[in-house]
Amino acid sequence: MRHHDRIRAVEWSDAGLKLLDQRLLPRLEQWVLLRDAKGVAEAIRDMVVRGAPAIGVTAAYGVVLAARDRYAESPQHWKNAIEEDFRVLAESRPTAVNLFWALERMKTQLAGIDGDPAPALLNEARRIHEADIAANYRMGELGAALIDTPGAVLTHCNTGSLATGGFGTALGVIRAAYGTGRVDHVFASETRPWLQGARLTAWELVEDNIPVTLITEGAAATLMKQGKVNWVIVGADRIAANGDVANKIGTYSLAVAARHHGVKFMVVAPTTTVDMNITSGADIPIEERAEDEVLTLGGTRLAPPAAHAWNPSFDVTPAALIDAIVTEKGVVAAPTLEKMQAMMAA
Ligand code: MRU
Repeated sequence: MRHHDRIRAVEWSDAGLKLLDQRLLPRLEQWVLLRDAKGVAEAIRDMVVRGAPAIGVTAAYGVVLAARDRYAESPQHWKNAIEEDFRVLAESRPTAVNLFWALERMKTQLAGIDGDPAPALLNEARRIHEADIAANYRMGELGAALIDTPGAVLTHCNTGSLATGGFGTALGVIRAAYGTGRVDHVFASETRPWLQGARLTAWELVEDNIPVTLITEGAAATLMKQGKVNWVIVGADRIAANGDVANKIGTYSLAVAARHHGVKFMVVAPTTTVDMNITSGADIPIEERAEDEVLTLGGTRLAPPAAHAWNPSFDVTPAALIDAIVTEKGVVAAPTLEKMQAMMAA
């Protein structure tokens, strides 16, 4: 682990998969222990764990638990029986492509196994986890190098150690840039309705001694107009082949406001978040979550009983509004299909 990098939220143990319960942070630091694939799928759906790369890593460990159970039930038929677990895990959340990427990779590994599958699958899940952390370190260096004027940046949602295998994507760039003096302050948007920014990003930055100021989403354009930030730096849940980016709802508004005010816009995501099978952002499935996330706060109803809410969890930022996509394979400035293809082939 490096400087400003002390948090991990997904951990394998012999007893099962341990997740730091992100629903309870920052009030409580409580871990849950999951012993089967169904429990892992529920934990992803209920957002015990969230963030695209963290969901992928978690699902990979979920396959290890499934294989352990299915092989114990039937050493002859476990490869058929585990199909059901793959289905349940794949249905947990729709937008972050890292989930489907990780399941596919575990499936490929599984195909060649004879005998007890647990050791080989655990190795593969660990490789996925470690490769994600390594990608984050690399993106941290590449992204931080783009920030030529030291100053403050704005980030959205939570893209840190909690949202990944560790260190973070956008927050990894911010951690790295803070370490080298290119970032001196972080503005974090609270991220309605689930408050990933207020609860999780602020917590991670405080834990790592990086100065943070929270803003409401409504304050972002004014922050930019007053010249208080040079860059908006965000993560992604799925990037289409043409460079369109699906990320937490509100990202698109930030990109529109950033372009209007001459603020640069950086997207940081590993290649496991890139979906070259999807031509443009219009084809990315966008999760809609329960109305109650908007209508209530901390269990208390805010809106009158007859009011309804629309709660899309993600939006799509068109490639034309993005100055740079940073992956572990390199930086794509002003993304296009051709540049994305070249980066993926690198
Ligand atoms: O609904 P969430 O909290 O899973 O959404 C997370 C985000 O939108 C993140 O910005 C994205 O996954 C990138 S995380 C490195």
